[in-house]
Amino acid sequence: MSSQSDPQYTVPGMTASEGGETIQSLRMRLHALNDLALTLKHVHWNVVGPHFIAVHEMLDPQVDAVRGMVDEIAERISTLGGSPAGTPGALVSERGWDDYAVGRAEAIEHLGALDIVYSGIIADHRRAADAVAKLDPVTQDMLIQHLRGLELFQWFIRAHLESAGGTLSTGGRATEVDAAAAAGAQALRRP
Ligand SMILES: [Fe+2]
Repeated sequence: MSSQSDPQYTVPGMTASEGGETIQSLRMRLHALNDLALTLKHVHWNVVGPHFIAVHEMLDPQVDAVRGMVDEIAERISTLGGSPAGTPGALVSERGWDDYAVGRAEAIEHLGALDIVYSGIIADHRRAADAVAKLDPVTQDMLIQHLRGLELFQWFIRAHLESAGGTLSTGGRATEVDAAAAAGAQALRRP
């Protein structure tokens, strides 16, 4: 069935409706990763404390990689015959989440909050990869490649939050502020 969001053309072998559905899935992934790239830079600028330089420098390669993913998603949307929405206004009006909640803060607190950020993005990226599996395996393959990078980056974050026994200080926390507080409190208890 065709809808208003269907493109005038799409890649050979797909119907306009399949192209339109795939583009819809990618639209929010574009917003999510554009938001992530900005959030990682925000943390890069606002991290303070004795572990400043480790976190400050760890994040720039993540920003570069995520910007690369953003470009791939946007260009896939165009390839499928759609129009990628790359403006901040579109991002803010269409996203289903709030701005990153932590300003200037200790490295461990930002890492706790970023664990929550990555968890949300990775779970949604997996859902999108699943949703397009039958529609467009090429788009699915792209999203799976992104997941490999995003999950690796979350491990970089989580390695700072993990005890030798393998538990995460952010375990069970649902919000960035709660996770930041839990990570900060755990760090204070360490000898
Ligand atoms: Fe910088």
